[in-house]
Amino acid sequence: MEYDIADLDLAAVGARRMAWAGRRMPVLGTIRERFRQEQPLAGRRVAACLHVTAETANLMLALRDGGADVVLCASNPLSTQDDVAAALVEEGIPVFAVRGEDNERYYQHIHAVLDTKPDITMDDGADLVTVLHTDRTDLEPIGSTEETTTGVIRLRAMAGDGTLRLPVVAVNDSATKHLFDNRYGTGQSCMDGILRASNVLLAGSTVVVVGYGDCGRGVADRADGMGAKVVVVEVDAVRALEAAMDGYQVLTADDAASVGDVFVTVTGNKHVLRDRHFDRMKDGAILANAGHFDVEIDLPVLVARAAERRPVRENLEEFVLEDGRRLLVAAEGRLVNLSAAEGHPADVMDMSFSDQALAAEWLVKGAGDLKPGVYTLPGELDQEVARIKLAHLGGGLEVLTEEQVAYLATWKEGT
Ligand code: ADE
Repeated sequence: MEYDIADLDLAAVGARRMAWAGRRMPVLGTIRERFRQEQPLAGRRVAACLHVTAETANLMLALRDGGADVVLCASNPLSTQDDVAAALVEEGIPVFAVRGEDNERYYQHIHAVLDTKPDITMDDGADLVTVLHTDRTDLEPIGSTEETTTGVIRLRAMAGDGTLRLPVVAVNDSATKHLFDNRYGTGQSCMDGILRASNVLLAGSTVVVVGYGDCGRGVADRADGMGAKVVVVEVDAVRALEAAMDGYQVLTADDAASVGDVFVTVTGNKHVLRDRHFDRMKDGAILANAGHFDVEIDLPVLVARAAERRPVRENLEEFVLEDGRRLLVAAEGRLVNLSAAEGHPADVMDMSFSDQALAAEWLVKGAGDLKPGVYTLPGELDQEVARIKLAHLGGGLEVLTEEQVAYLATWKEGT
């Protein structure tokens, strides 16, 4: 079996972490059990490009138990948990991922998983699909799945200009994914990453959240809950208004730059913190990115301007500017929750990765009938995932009476 990982000796530690995550993923566990019996992915090859974490490992096991031949590479050079990669290899699943790999090796790994000629590809950020449309147009998977908002934006752009050549399930658009993973997952894991990198006290500090989508909201909520004064920067007037009515101060990036102690970018766009903002920031300001790509903070400019650059802690670097101010950047501007912490907790990845498993099954069932395009999973699957999760949280679900069902179906009964 071919693979490329940091160190196979880490497997025992990785296996323990995988098992712990698995215990907190009851929905995926239920699907895995059904997959074991029904073998919906029998004979299918799945190539996944996801963050190589303990949670992803549990998804890989569920797909394998459903009959698939699975192979995994990283969707970010700095998010790989090397112990988990080793444990998966011990499980017989080929992994091509090494934490800290350079760009060349990152793409070698993407090509390595595509060399298996997959029937299904799974992306977090659309890197596999992009390569399927550039270097590997020879391959014809039946479909693909996409985990994240940024990837879905890329895919919709491809569908919009007519270049998308395969059906892709936007897993991110399932309610049980984005309403929970993006909000509660990003909120918690992002604060976790910032705190592991810096260990600063949030109470009484000013946290500037740039972007108020589902992820930004989650970050703002958690920062607020830890006693920070939260400032939101937004370009969309409706979202900005929501932030204002959620109780946050809404400022332009220029104005926010001079008041922030901690900055978190969560926009999916590039250079949202750039030269003009660096000019205004306070000495000691901490900059972190929670967006998918490392483009949100204009790091090249900071590097070019810095008289000095030095590591101050693990995952925290200091840039000393010409005027003596020190700006600190967490995890090289890569997504801080996965680079400086462990990513979202298993409890929430449970739903996201259940949606991924169901998406793979859905693509196999629809093979041959689905035209190229971006699809959302049927609402019943969201309901199924939410029902199982709620039951595990100890919640009870009310049901409509027959009278209520009839009432909802009529337009004649007004009162
Ligand atoms: N994205 C965010 N958190 C993650 C995790 N724990 N595993 C895989 N992908 C993630």
